[in-house]
Amino acid sequence: MSTSLQNASVLITGASSGIGAATARLLAADGAVVALVARRRERLDDLVEDIAAAGGTAHAYAADVADSAEATTVVDRVAVDLGGLDALVGCAGYLANMPALEADLAEWHRMVSVNVDGVLATTHAALPHLVRSASGPRGVADVVTISSIAGRRVPQAYSQVYAATKHAVGAFSEGLRQELAEKQVRVGLVEPGVVRTEMTTAGYTGAPDGSTGAPLGAEDVADAVRYILTRPAHAAVNEVLLRPTEQVR
Ligand SMILES: NC(=O)c1ccc[n+]([C@@H]2O[C@H](COP(=O)([O-])OP(=O)(O)OC[C@H]3O[C@@H](n4cnc5c(N)ncnc54)[C@H](OP(=O)(O)O)[C@@H]3O)[C@@H](O)[C@H]2O)c1
Repeated sequence: MSTSLQNASVLITGASSGIGAATARLLAADGAVVALVARRRERLDDLVEDIAAAGGTAHAYAADVADSAEATTVVDRVAVDLGGLDALVGCAGYLANMPALEADLAEWHRMVSVNVDGVLATTHAALPHLVRSASGPRGVADVVTISSIAGRRVPQAYSQVYAATKHAVGAFSEGLRQELAEKQVRVGLVEPGVVRTEMTTAGYTGAPDGSTGAPLGAEDVADAVRYILTRPAHAAVNEVLLRPTEQVR
């Protein structure tokens, strides 16, 4: 039997746009109570209103996940407000592809801060809450992180640091998975190819492999997250790799 999202408390980072916002809408439509975390407060407030208008429940929390103290505080706050945490969905991310010879070191550090430190801090804070929930009536809890196809392979030279951050997320998730399996906490990664979001629309000319077919929509990735969260408690989907049909590599 699939695991219901009805009244499940789900914290989504990066919920102010793109994949995070689409995931929030989709999970809320399935009855989850979603906590929306990102820095742009007005965006979150607008999404809370949209979700409420559609009959769902959402709460907004402005926080910078790259700041470990802020990340920890917001996760604990959400767990108190929602009476626990059934799932953490990590969508916050930053991409700044550039040739190494011209790179701004601060941009490299920013990718590491959001894509790695942010995932570590939010996950670290969420784990005690998730372990507690997993032994409750739902019988399972979840950590789902949006990695990338760049977590599997380096798509192009200029994505060296972005790919390094996503490879790090992959290694972290696999270690977590091994440790948490017996605690009924499932750990999953979603690894999309090109998705049309704010991250990719500026100057988008096709996938890194040169293919120019339609990219994925944020809803396609959200659907993969929902699939992971709604599997029966005994079934863990640990990785979903999804590309636009015409993306070759
Ligand atoms: N788009 C793609 O082609 C693609 C492909 C593979 C993987 N991904 C991954 O998918 C995830 C979502 O990206 P997206 O495509 O949906 O891009 P997006 O629309 O740019 O969304 C990124 C989100 O991350 C949030 N964020 C960034 N820095 C943050 C910080 N320091 N603290 C809190 N939130 C922060 C942003 O919110 P604020 O600015 O309001 O803080 C925004 O909500 C990322 O991890 C990305 O690496 C994207």
